Amino acid sequence: MDFRHLVATPDALTAVACDALLLVVTGDAVDSALAAPLAALLRDAVAQGDLALKSGKALYLHRPAGVKAARLAFAVVANTSAKAFKAGVAQGLGLLKGTGAKHIAVAFAGKGEWLADHAEAVVAAVGDATYVYRHTKPSAPAAGALAKLTIVCGKADAKAVTQGLARGEAIAAGVALARECANRPANHCTPTYLGEQAKKLGKSHGLKVEVLDRKAVEKLGMGSFRSVAQGSAEPLRFIVARYEGAAKTQAPVVLVGKGITFDTGGISIKPAAEMDEMKFDMGGAASVLGTLRAIAELKPKLNLIGIIPSCENMPSSRAVKPGDVVTSMSGQTIEILNTDAEGRLILCDALTYAERFKPAVVVDIATLTGACVVALGYHHSGLFTADDEVAGQMLAASRSALDPCWRMPMDEEYDEGLKSNFADMGNIGGRMGGAITAAMFLRRFTGKYRWAHLDIAGTAWKSGAAKGATGRPVPLLTHFVLAQAK
Ligand code: BES
Ligand code: MN
Ligand code: ZN
Repeated sequence: MDFRHLVATPDALTAVACDALLLVVTGDAVDSALAAPLAALLRDAVAQGDLALKSGKALYLHRPAGVKAARLAFAVVANTSAKAFKAGVAQGLGLLKGTGAKHIAVAFAGKGEWLADHAEAVVAAVGDATYVYRHTKPSAPAAGALAKLTIVCGKADAKAVTQGLARGEAIAAGVALARECANRPANHCTPTYLGEQAKKLGKSHGLKVEVLDRKAVEKLGMGSFRSVAQGSAEPLRFIVARYEGAAKTQAPVVLVGKGITFDTGGISIKPAAEMDEMKFDMGGAASVLGTLRAIAELKPKLNLIGIIPSCENMPSSRAVKPGDVVTSMSGQTIEILNTDAEGRLILCDALTYAERFKPAVVVDIATLTGACVVALGYHHSGLFTADDEVAGQMLAASRSALDPCWRMPMDEEYDEGLKSNFADMGNIGGRMGGAITAAMFLRRFTGKYRWAHLDIAGTAWKSGAAKGATGRPVPLLTHFVLAQAK
């Protein structure tokens, strides 16, 4: 995709050379400067009852009179926020999808100032509209002809648009990488494959990448991670990827992503229904790779480290059993009461490993609990941190990235359930508040640095007819990391 901007007045929109013009109509405030033919078409469509000036409504016109572009789409939005704008652009792209339009120009039909966030939102909408999973389905129909998108803006907005496009493109590439990894079936996307992907990303984007195997992991004393991997014939991988954009002395941001390439539940086996979706249980790992990619393209002056513990969770004669006690890298012992609570078991050792980097802040990202989906549904990721400042930064990033998350409680009282008679802790609490007890478990390994945890069990993928990875929370994480540089 080729993204660019063009400086032009609303009055010059009729002359823009493109295959389709997509005009975002902001409420009823049609810009008086809008070119007469376009204003007339819009007024007429509204008068004839073909377009209601209500958010979500859109209209396609072929060979519009007085307009150079052969196609015109109006999309009505509720307000000029980037969120409403993204929805409008998505709607307009939907109308233009079946057409032959290769080059689309986007502009405001009403009053509206282009901020960087709007340009970023356009790129995100294009990314969503054009991504097609092909790897194991080469017959999948193409998303359409779209190859070029131009944002038409005023001179005063050009700088913001340029910045927004760059950020948007980097994030869209990161989102696409995360979706591509997560969509691949578990017999393709193995821990070994994730390691190779990280290496490949390192080569193409100048990252330092190390991939550790079982021997190295055992030497480090990661008894908890190892115990999850031991039930599978598929070898584990522990991936460390570094982006160095500042002096080595500068404390890095560390992202830790859950990389369970398939979660059967282990001996505490899951029911068969929808178990296929447990190939997405490496969504956290995918989002770490995606964010590394986005950051490596934007080159902010900071250091970023991605850590991915990756393995399968399988039942077998070698698998870890309920009641087994393992020793984590931190030295704390864990009674594994449910082998399906495996995410926390691989993350805890990665969180201990992160200490060696003396991080400025650590964020772990995991498809950790079904309970988080019960609590928040499919819209907000769960945000857990005892640190109000980190919480504020994460929430701000989530808002500006249009990638919502919601802060959950972490009071000491929730730690109660983790008590064990046979180890320093059990790996599960009671059934209630399960997303919170999972976070409380992780917290026991994060005492040495500022930390937040994102439970993306409800947001990393979609089920049903639109089944597929979303690439979330790459936008949130990228905004969060970028903000650490300022
Ligand atoms: N990967 C799952 C969490 C999950 C389940 C994500 C369903 C999305 C949809 C995780 O490893 C898991 O199995 N968690 C258990 C924890 C329980 C045993 C305490 C869960 O949520 O049921
Ligand atoms: Mn599980
Ligand atoms: Zn899992």
